[in-house]
Amino acid sequence: MQTEIKAEQLKKDGYAIEAEKNRGYLLKEDASRVFGRTELESRIHTKWIGRSLYYYDAIDSTNLQAKRLAEEGAPNGTVVVADQQSAGRGRRGRTWASPAGANLYFTVLLRPKIAPDKASMLTLVMALAVAEGIRSIAIPGIKWPNDIVIDGRKVCGILTEMSLSAEQGSIDHLVIGVGVNVAKQEFPKELQGYAVALEEFTCKVNRSELLNAILEQFEGYYEQFCTKADLSSLKNSYDALLVNYGRQVRVLDPKGEYDGIARGIRPTGELIVELPDGETRDVYAGEVSVRGIYGYV
Ligand code: BTN
Repeated sequence: MQTEIKAEQLKKDGYAIEAEKNRGYLLKEDASRVFGRTELESRIHTKWIGRSLYYYDAIDSTNLQAKRLAEEGAPNGTVVVADQQSAGRGRRGRTWASPAGANLYFTVLLRPKIAPDKASMLTLVMALAVAEGIRSIAIPGIKWPNDIVIDGRKVCGILTEMSLSAEQGSIDHLVIGVGVNVAKQEFPKELQGYAVALEEFTCKVNRSELLNAILEQFEGYYEQFCTKADLSSLKNSYDALLVNYGRQVRVLDPKGEYDGIARGIRPTGELIVELPDGETRDVYAGEVSVRGIYGYV
């Protein structure tokens, strides 16, 4: 009876399962594409992040859903996952194309006890976690502040959104949304040559295992971050992955673009850019973006 219940649930999650006479159940095909609540629950081994887990076959946006759940009182560490998003959100008001059966889309809901001006550092913490989480598949890099790249192309984007409590102006909650390109796919024209997927480097990626790898990393890094509410203990690991490190960058400052050499991050997350005269400037994420002088990286 127990086996039958489990088999029914697995079928609902998308497994092709057949009952064979006197032999129990037979799993028919490649399980790497299967994605669903049961699969996620069996693969996630974190201590507290994702213990409260919501899975949707389709949702507008995992960030939006995480915010709605936060308003209803969902706990710190809640994770929202979807197979497909109809209104995936990217940075700077852009959309994030989110087809079904192809990629990983998830959001972590946090209720950190830090000042609102420190929240942007958590995007860098997540970038580090994603980079380490995909390291067994391909050699990752981070394009400051939070794009994950492989071979100079973007494989993951991160969008952090914060809600303040009306009375105190302190953080009520923040959501960190992550989109990882997993399956080989035809990217929209404007992303061709600029985006890449993990399965261009390996055969099959199980999205639940990938999520677990990222969340386990994030859990450890987040706990380190919380001890001082800064990136001092993570800075060296972050700098080691920074593709801009020691390279020429163009700072797209609305007050005037300038070029310099990236010299790593401050413990508070700003990018240090050395100007031709040797002076350095701290570049704040959110205010300006940075790109290589010959292209994206
Ligand atoms: C970027 O523009 O680089 C950030 C993209 C972030 C996309 C992810 S997908 C999961 C989560 N839900 C969203 O609506 N957006 C983020």
